[in-house]
Amino acid sequence: QELKLSLEQIEKGGYEHFMLKEIFEQPKSIHDTLRGRLLVNEGIIKMAGIWDHLERINQAQKITIIACGTSWHAGLIGEYLIEEFARIPVEVEYASEFRYRNPIITDKDIVIAISQSGETADTMAAIKMAKEKGAFIYGICNVVDSSIARITDAGSYTHAGPEIGVASTKAFTSQLTILSLIALKLGKHNGNLSNQEFMRLITELDALPKKVEEVLESTHEITKEIAKHFVDAQNFLYLGRGYNFPAALEGALKLKEISYIHAEGYPAAEMKHGPIALIDENMPIVIIAPRQGHYDKIVSNVQEIKARKGKIIAVVNSGDTQVASMADYVIEFPETSECFSPILASVPLQLLAYYVAVYRGANVDQPRNLAKSVTVE
Ligand code: G6P
Repeated sequence: QELKLSLEQIEKGGYEHFMLKEIFEQPKSIHDTLRGRLLVNEGIIKMAGIWDHLERINQAQKITIIACGTSWHAGLIGEYLIEEFARIPVEVEYASEFRYRNPIITDKDIVIAISQSGETADTMAAIKMAKEKGAFIYGICNVVDSSIARITDAGSYTHAGPEIGVASTKAFTSQLTILSLIALKLGKHNGNLSNQEFMRLITELDALPKKVEEVLESTHEITKEIAKHFVDAQNFLYLGRGYNFPAALEGALKLKEISYIHAEGYPAAEMKHGPIALIDENMPIVIIAPRQGHYDKIVSNVQEIKARKGKIIAVVNSGDTQVASMADYVIEFPETSECFSPILASVPLQLLAYYVAVYRGANVDQPRNLAKSVTVE
């Protein structure tokens, strides 16, 4: 028993939980996802899985992304990325829904399956069905040689390294990184992305590991402090727009998974169609509002929350004044292109969820009723 404990201690590398270790590994895991693929000086993205099937992918009538849980959230951001840069229509589906309806999938379709473990039963079954209908299946998995990685026609590993904490953190940001690479590569080769724009974006992408490191440094203490105030919260609302709407969903999922506080993510503008009814002085609202991306629209959403006395935790770019001045708590992160901002904004949301759960005495690495890999229906 003692030996086992100390081994685990070593594996945690000095961190109290695997989740915290994995959150802090993100500068490295994102770097590992990019390594050998993003060659900024040469101005290219190297991805054999895409390159070998470029024509088929670029001629796709549509791309359907299938996944579950956190991977599904990455898929939603993938939709925004691929549609913006490659201009190919994308749909994102829960694997569990996709497999039991009769979706329109033909041999002209591409299906992208996203799975950290590569073993999720619903995702596996959805792939098998799409394969039978003739679709070309592209896998984005973290676990090398996993079942999903083996059944797909082509794919890219995220190379985030082993993820032990049940709540996915570094696998998520690596999935976003891979999806960014795919979208930019497709866009460059099908002519939708100018060389100049491509160069600008890959330079931004290359800077992300460093920026994630900055985010960890600058938000660690503040998220820990903010978490203290919300240990007894019963509900949380997470809001974002555009690329950061799925980031809001993921932030809410992290909190509910490990702290057992009910949390909902919503597109900020949809707030008026329901959640606004819940806002009073007891409702904490995390609002993701980087400068690039519907900022003015978010400002008016924040004003609506303020008028109803909601407790605002604003996740904004460094030096922000407008949203920050209305917020009760402010978390800052460096500016980047809108399409990459979920990668940076997700980090303090992971930390916030982590510390709320720790203060509530929850079992962060192994939350009740949840499994790391769901291999049954
Ligand atoms: C479980 C895990 C989640 C994960 C989901 C999908 O619910 O607890 O963290 O996002 O499965 O798993 P996958 O391995 O397919 O990404």
